[in-house]
Amino acid sequence: MRILFATSEAAPLIKTGGLADVSGALPAALRKIGIDCRVLLPGYAVIMYKLEATRQIARFDQFLDAAGKPLAARLLQSAIPGSDVPLYVLDAPAAFARDGGPYQDAEGLDYPDNAHRFALLSQVAALLAGPASPIDWQPDLLHCNDWQTGLAPAYLRLSGGTTPSVITVHNLAYQGIFPPSALAKLNLPASSFSIEGVEYYGNLSFLKAGLYYASHITTVSPTYAMEIQQPHLGMGMQGLLAGRRQQLSGILNGIDTDEWNPAADRHLNCEFNARAMAGKKRCKQLLQEELGLEPLDDAPLFGMIARMAHQKGLDLVLAVADGIIDRGGQIALLGTGEKSIEAAVRVLVERHPGKVAALIGYDEGLSHRIEAGSDMFLMPSLFEPCGLNQMYSLRYGSVPIVHATGGLRDTVEDGVTGFVFHQPTAHALWLAIERAFELYPHRPAWKKMMTAGMTRDFSWENSARAYQTLYQGLLPTEV
Ligand code: ADP
Ligand code: GLC
Repeated sequence: MRILFATSEAAPLIKTGGLADVSGALPAALRKIGIDCRVLLPGYAVIMYKLEATRQIARFDQFLDAAGKPLAARLLQSAIPGSDVPLYVLDAPAAFARDGGPYQDAEGLDYPDNAHRFALLSQVAALLAGPASPIDWQPDLLHCNDWQTGLAPAYLRLSGGTTPSVITVHNLAYQGIFPPSALAKLNLPASSFSIEGVEYYGNLSFLKAGLYYASHITTVSPTYAMEIQQPHLGMGMQGLLAGRRQQLSGILNGIDTDEWNPAADRHLNCEFNARAMAGKKRCKQLLQEELGLEPLDDAPLFGMIARMAHQKGLDLVLAVADGIIDRGGQIALLGTGEKSIEAAVRVLVERHPGKVAALIGYDEGLSHRIEAGSDMFLMPSLFEPCGLNQMYSLRYGSVPIVHATGGLRDTVEDGVTGFVFHQPTAHALWLAIERAFELYPHRPAWKKMMTAGMTRDFSWENSARAYQTLYQGLLPTEV
C-alpha cells in the first residue's frame, strides 16, 4: 500500500507544535508495518540545508506566484533525516524560502500570501496523487493534515482524480480562512465557492474544503472526534462534521518512544526508568539548578510546556499559581506565543523569584528536562485534540493534572495515572492540584501513580495499525 502524507511541518526538520511530532513519527510507524508511506513538505529555507542526498525529480512550470507571474517550482526527493521515510520537497523559493517560521514572519505576523503558499502545496499534493503525476510513484491514497493541505482533496476531486483521500484534523481552531477574492488566484473553479464546496460563512476555508471533499476525516483522539460534532467545540464546523459522522473517526496519536525515553534521552544527564527511579530525583535537582529555582528536594515541582495560546488554559494556571507557591510548590514553565500571555507569565516570575521560573522561547532540550525533572505536569487546556505532553509526562513520571477534554480525557486516568478535572475553571483546576498536594507526601502511593503512568504503552504501533485498517477500507480493492 502506498500513502502520500502531505503536511506543513515534520520533526526533526520543522516544528511549531504537535503536528510536526505526528508527521515525523506516523509515516515511520506505517513503514514499519509494511506501508510505503512518503511525506510531502514545503521547501522552507530552514529545512533545505538539513537535507541529505537530494535530487530533483520533477519541475513544474504551470504555477503562478501571488502577483500572477510564473513561479519557479520543482520537486526534490530526499529522506526525513534519521529515518528511512522518503521525503518529497516542494522547492518553490518565492513561496517558501523566507526568514521566519512556516506561517509567520519573525515578528509573528502571518505571511500575507499564506493562501497562495498553501494552495500551491495542496495543488502539488493533488497532482502527485492524481493521474497526471509527473513522477513514477503513484500513491493509493492521499493523507492530508490540517488546513494547510486542506485544499488538496478539493483539487484532486475537482480535477476528476479518483484516488481516495483522508484529512486529519489536528486542531479545528485553525481553519485557513481567506476572503472570497482569494479564490481566483488559487486555480479553483468559481462553482466550488458554495456550501457544497470550499465556501464557509461567506469566506473561503481551506479546512472546510478538506472536510467536505476528503473521502474520510480523522482526528487525533476518539473524544475529540465526538466533541467537534457539538456546537461547543465544533467551531462552526459541527454541522458538516456531524453530517459526515459515518466518515469521521478518532485515532489517538502515539508518541515517539525513542525520542521520549527517560532511560536514554540525549537531553538528560540523569536517566531513569520505572524500576530505577533515582535518576528522576537527580533530574529535579538539575532542573532547579538550570532554572534558578530553590534547591528544595521536597517542594512539589509543577511543569508546563505549551504554545502560549488561549487553548492551553494558561490563564487558569496564572490564577492558581499563588496558591501553588503558598502550599510550598514550585513552577517551571516553557512556552512562547501570544505576547499578552508571555507578559503575564513574566510578571508571575518576578513576583516569585526562586519559586516560579519561565523560559519564554522554544527549547527542545529544556522541554525534555522539564518532563524529567517535574513532579507534576499541568495541562488545563480548554480543548485539546490529542495533546502529546501529557503522554510524555506519563512516560517521564511527571504526574499529569489535566482537564477532561479531547485526548487528555482519553490518555489520563483519574486517580490512577494522574488527576483529571471536569470544568475548565481555575477552581476545578485548583481542587485537582490540592488532591495532588495531598497525595504527594505519601511516597508509596505517589510512586504507584508514577509507575502506573510510566508503564502505559503509547507507542505508535497501535495507531499505525488503526490507520492501516482505515486506509484499507477506503481503497477500491484491498492492496
Ligand atoms: P500543540 O500541537 O497544540 O502545540 P501538543 O501537546 O500536541 O500541542 O504538542 C506540542 C509539542 O510541541 C510537544 O512536543 C511540546 O513538547 C512541544 N513544544 C511546545 N512548546 C514548546 C517550547 N516552547 N519549547 C519546546 N517544545 C515545545
Ligand atoms: C494539534 C493539537 C494537539 C495535537 C497535535 C498533534 O496541534 O493542538 O492537541 O496533539 O495537533 O495531533
